[in-house]
Amino acid sequence: MVERRTVNPYVTGSSPVGGAKFLFLMLLFIFNIFYYLFFDEIRLMTKIITSIKIRRPDDCHVHFRDGNILKLIVPYTSKFFGRAIIMPNLIKPIISINQAISYRKRIIRAIPSEHLFTPLMTFYLTDMSETKIIEDGFNQKVFIACKLYLNKVTTNSKYGVSNITNLYPVFSTMERIGMPLLIHGEVTNNNIDIFDREAYFIDQIMEPIRNNFPNLKIVFEHITTKEAVQYILSNNENIVATITPQHLMFNRNHMLVNGIKPHLYCLPILKSNIHRTALREAITTDCKRFFLGTDTAPHTQNKKESACGCAGIFNAPTALAAYATVFNEMNAMENFEAFCSLNGAKFYGLPVNNGFIELKRKKIIFNNKISKDKNNLIPFLLHKNIKWEINVI
Ligand code: DOR
Ligand code: ZN
Repeated sequence: MVERRTVNPYVTGSSPVGGAKFLFLMLLFIFNIFYYLFFDEIRLMTKIITSIKIRRPDDCHVHFRDGNILKLIVPYTSKFFGRAIIMPNLIKPIISINQAISYRKRIIRAIPSEHLFTPLMTFYLTDMSETKIIEDGFNQKVFIACKLYLNKVTTNSKYGVSNITNLYPVFSTMERIGMPLLIHGEVTNNNIDIFDREAYFIDQIMEPIRNNFPNLKIVFEHITTKEAVQYILSNNENIVATITPQHLMFNRNHMLVNGIKPHLYCLPILKSNIHRTALREAITTDCKRFFLGTDTAPHTQNKKESACGCAGIFNAPTALAAYATVFNEMNAMENFEAFCSLNGAKFYGLPVNNGFIELKRKKIIFNNKISKDKNNLIPFLLHKNIKWEINVI
């Protein structure tokens, strides 16, 4: 009986050339599988940027609080940002010119002398807001904008607006004088699911305001949904949006799976990944109507890690690095400077800041808990590699 031997040059190893060829083909095969499975990662890796110099940026949405916390946190913003739009939702909200002037003074006292930083103040709208104070404050350059919170929508919003039409005379004045309206875009109806609050807001509140006051300048603050992205893209230059680092980086699974993470809880709440993807895609467009607003909003550790935890993420120390990480992942570094430093200034009619900052890619594990006296703050991305070192140049 003749033994039949199948001779496969690739597996017998009978010839060294055949072996090498086999190895080569196997490697090619594995590479192809890897390439198709992880195509995105490969594409990202090839374009990774390791350093970038940009104009000194503006943070168009900041909560500085007051008292000891104010003193503790201001330097984290004033170090790298040239200006910030300061939210007026203190425990006693900012509803007069004098209050805003003295709050601005307290902020300025907390800025280290070597930092070049200007706080820009906002007025807190209530059902009772008077047009004259707002117009006077704007003309005197005390207020740069008015902030709209609907009643009980978030932290310190119990004086917020319960009937939006009460404010229509105010909006009419703001439209006439070119004063921006900053909107926390969520409805407060308890029958509406918390994840749908923003989409409902667009239909129920935003659209009527825009229809009645087409020339009113509006900032749709900290947008979180594909509906909001679409709304901005399909409208004109009178409406812009800020986007936070947390909504670009994380979705609701990050907050809720494998144990609840109170330090990722903010309002509007993190949404599903579909929405996060829409935000990440928005920053890759060359639309100049998206810009940086961190919504840094510190609450002490005990108030975050509580049976009824406060909404707000203290991201000032790591926000710029977080934005850079996302822009880099999205191959959108060419839009980074506009998002951080140009688009907001243009909308607010401000000159771009003097000076520059430089971000360099580097492994940096951010380990700084921030505390003084009884105030213990847990910053965004604590114990994570924030990937970028930032210097003022
Ligand atoms: O998470 C939030 N925190 N969202 C807001 O709208 C307010 C902010 C705060 O002031 O704590
Ligand atoms: Zn806010």
